[in-house]
Amino acid sequence: MNSFSTVIRTASHEQHTEAETSTFMSDLLGGRLGVDAYARYTEQLWFVYEALEAGSGRLAGDPVAGPFVRPELFRLAALERDLAHLRGADWRAGLSALPATRAYADRVRECAEQWPGGYVAHHYTRYLGDLSGGQIIRDRAERTWGFERKGDGVRFYVFEEIANPAAFKRGYRELLDTVRADDLERQRIVAECRRAFALNTAVFHALAEEFPLSA
Ligand code: HEM
Repeated sequence: MNSFSTVIRTASHEQHTEAETSTFMSDLLGGRLGVDAYARYTEQLWFVYEALEAGSGRLAGDPVAGPFVRPELFRLAALERDLAHLRGADWRAGLSALPATRAYADRVRECAEQWPGGYVAHHYTRYLGDLSGGQIIRDRAERTWGFERKGDGVRFYVFEEIANPAAFKRGYRELLDTVRADDLERQRIVAECRRAFALNTAVFHALAEEFPLSA
């Protein structure tokens, strides 16, 4: 039988490809967008991580979600530094969530407050992705907009406290494999992971509409 980490990965594989090849991501990775689009995207991430991390103190003691809550993953402080660099010291004044971002953050908050298994699905979808593909995005952002390597503007993608991401990901998959959830709950977590990917893709679609490429 497949391990849960394999099941969840396989279940979201198709949607991963969809997210990766979405118009907005392709344009971003292709260096075809201005830094304003990157900043707008980073603002959207702020709302998602605020929802993921605001409730994490309470979840740290939860038997299901608790083992996943690791301070070395926290991204909110890094996002805030990036936004100060991208938008200036008063970045909070101009911050606004797209409707798709609002829907995504609301769902994360709902899970954080009411359903630890669902929170695990959202946690996996974001943090394991950031540790993986996030590094590709960082590299591209540094080249396209000239941010200092691993410096202001791309700190979101830099996990200062994780020296060995590959080892960390292995440990994370072990946590998934031993998550305190029966078969039915595991199926629900997989379904929520699919929903998490769909919520991400919806944000990309909204961003693509806001930043169309003039042909
Ligand atoms: C252009 C954008 C993206 C690129 C280039 C990319 C690339 C990658 C790569 C190379 C991996 C490594 C797989 C491994 O460790 O073997 C990965 C894993 C992952 N990505 Fe992405 N990704 C992108 C976007 C996303 C998005 C938008 C999400 C969801 C929000 C996401 C979620 C994940 C997850 C959850 C994993 C871990 C899969 C697992 O091993 O269980 N990725 N990605």
